[in-house]
Amino acid sequence: MALYGEKFLDELLSKINLVDIVSRYCNLQRRGSSNYWACCPLPGHTEKTPSFTVNEPGQFYHCFGCGKGGDAIRFIQEVETVDFVDAVKILAEIAKMPLPVQSEKDAEKSKLLKNKKDRLHDILRETAIFYAKNLYDEKALRWREYLAKRGLDGKTVKVFGIGASLDYDGLPRHLKGLGYTEEEMLEAGVCQRSERGKIYDFEAERLIIPIINSMGKVIAFGGRIYEDKGFGKYKNTAETVIFNKKNNLYGINNLKKVKQEENFDKVIMVEGYMDAISLYMAGFKNVVASMGTSLTLQQAKLLKRYATTVLVSYDGDSAGQNATIRSLDIFENEGFEVKVVSLPDGLDPDDVIRKYGKEGYQTLLNNAQPLIDYKLSLIENGKDLQDVSERRKYVQESLELIRTVKDEFLKEELVKKVSQTSEISYASLKRDLESGTVTVKPTQKKEEIVVKRVKNNATSLAERVVLWAYVNDKDYAHDKDLQLLNFTDSTRDTIAEHLVYDEAGTVKPRLYKIVGDEGLAELDAILSCGDIIPSDESDHKRYFYDCYNAVRKHNLAEDVKRLNELYKLELNQEAKLKYAELIAQKMEEIKNV
Ligand code: GTP
Ligand code: MN
Repeated sequence: MALYGEKFLDELLSKINLVDIVSRYCNLQRRGSSNYWACCPLPGHTEKTPSFTVNEPGQFYHCFGCGKGGDAIRFIQEVETVDFVDAVKILAEIAKMPLPVQSEKDAEKSKLLKNKKDRLHDILRETAIFYAKNLYDEKALRWREYLAKRGLDGKTVKVFGIGASLDYDGLPRHLKGLGYTEEEMLEAGVCQRSERGKIYDFEAERLIIPIINSMGKVIAFGGRIYEDKGFGKYKNTAETVIFNKKNNLYGINNLKKVKQEENFDKVIMVEGYMDAISLYMAGFKNVVASMGTSLTLQQAKLLKRYATTVLVSYDGDSAGQNATIRSLDIFENEGFEVKVVSLPDGLDPDDVIRKYGKEGYQTLLNNAQPLIDYKLSLIENGKDLQDVSERRKYVQESLELIRTVKDEFLKEELVKKVSQTSEISYASLKRDLESGTVTVKPTQKKEEIVVKRVKNNATSLAERVVLWAYVNDKDYAHDKDLQLLNFTDSTRDTIAEHLVYDEAGTVKPRLYKIVGDEGLAELDAILSCGDIIPSDESDHKRYFYDCYNAVRKHNLAEDVKRLNELYKLELNQEAKLKYAELIAQKMEEIKNV
């Protein structure tokens, strides 16, 4: 069942600009008149140098690194990991275009099909609204005072959708009134059943922090108890088909929004909900929380869509802990530039803001250490360097770390540093560094890189310019007959055929579909020809003629070559003569081109 017709999709794609869409996910830099570049924002591909391009006139993207490409719909599918139907919905919303009205039968069908996920999202949204409203109930006075005491203003409370649960049965009663069954409440994780069979609010009497995904949908809740007993301070609603704590970052919805307003490539990573909220309020809006210390690979990958540098700002007392180091390594392996923000012992970012203000936190940010420096300082920590054996240990461990560094310049710098701290000569450290056994790091699985190179010779260039003129519907292009040309590349042939047969003049936005994935790089090269063509229109024309003629000549010369071969092989005199004639004819044509 095709849910959306071609006509609708065409209109949708014509209303949006892929460049704007992609810019929501990464920092696109313009290069040339038609191309934009960025580090690939697609999940599963990390890189430090940009190989992801968006071609504006062609309205398609292509990554030379991971080989993926396509139109805006495909991009949304990939980047948001949603299916086609959802990707279209997202784009329609951006384009402010109503989705096509379904026939009654279809509507009936899709109502039945309205899957579990949608139902869960609905119930979670209703629950979030319920909690948020509760906060203004008289029974929530203690929570309002609590928030005020923590310095949270009304605006921030709204941005994060903070709410409160007032009792055990308010939520199930409310949801029942909205038509949800007890089974659904349990399934969404917002309620639980007591031993005596009664259904009750899972987050009863807690302060509620909704966890919202990058699509702006509530997927779970974190509930905080009033008294800080140290243990079980927070409680998350159950993991469901739409909530997997490992795959989510708290605050990602705001991060995405902020990214659309002001571009940044650094993100602050904190542990706690309250840290993220507090930093956001203080103006550090590029912040997300891991919801605990141990970061997962999936969380790092999710963050990679939004930033290239991560400023890890974990609680002061978690510094040096294994979980923290592991998190830092995960970020590094995902290709982030990692910096560590050191917080005073016992304080978390929220405490720092409250104690030292945003200037205080800014100072800590400014002093963030590159990961390798941080690791070196951890080795030094707690060692008495006056003690010979501890000093030796310090040197050994440091050199072991330095050996893992690839950048030679950085290596030198680090050795110098160790030399200063340990007061052991640089030369001797250097010797040890080189002679020591190289610790073998478990080799990471390298991503398979599919780079399809495009040919770049004079013929290729001429062929592309010719096609560029036709694609861009240049008047002068119609002086020449495209059908007379053969191209030295199959993608170019495909495009030429399409141009010849397309009457409707709607080829431009759809060319990427015609050439297929393997042809995207070539299509890109063609559509980028605008950059090399002279800007003056009459010069354009001359340039085009030159290119057209060059291609034509090349074609004819190829014909001659082929005919010559045939001539040589032919034994029949009459046929031989025929070939000779044809050759002469072609030679004449070449002269006249
Ligand atoms: P406040 O004490 O309110 O400032 O909390 P915090 O945000 O500073 O949290 P903390 O640093 O104590 O913990 C970091 C994060 O770990 C929290 O935001 C929660 O996401 C998570 N967390 C902490 N304690 C618990 C717990 O008992 N259960 C669960 N499920 N998560 C917890
Ligand atoms: Mn805290």
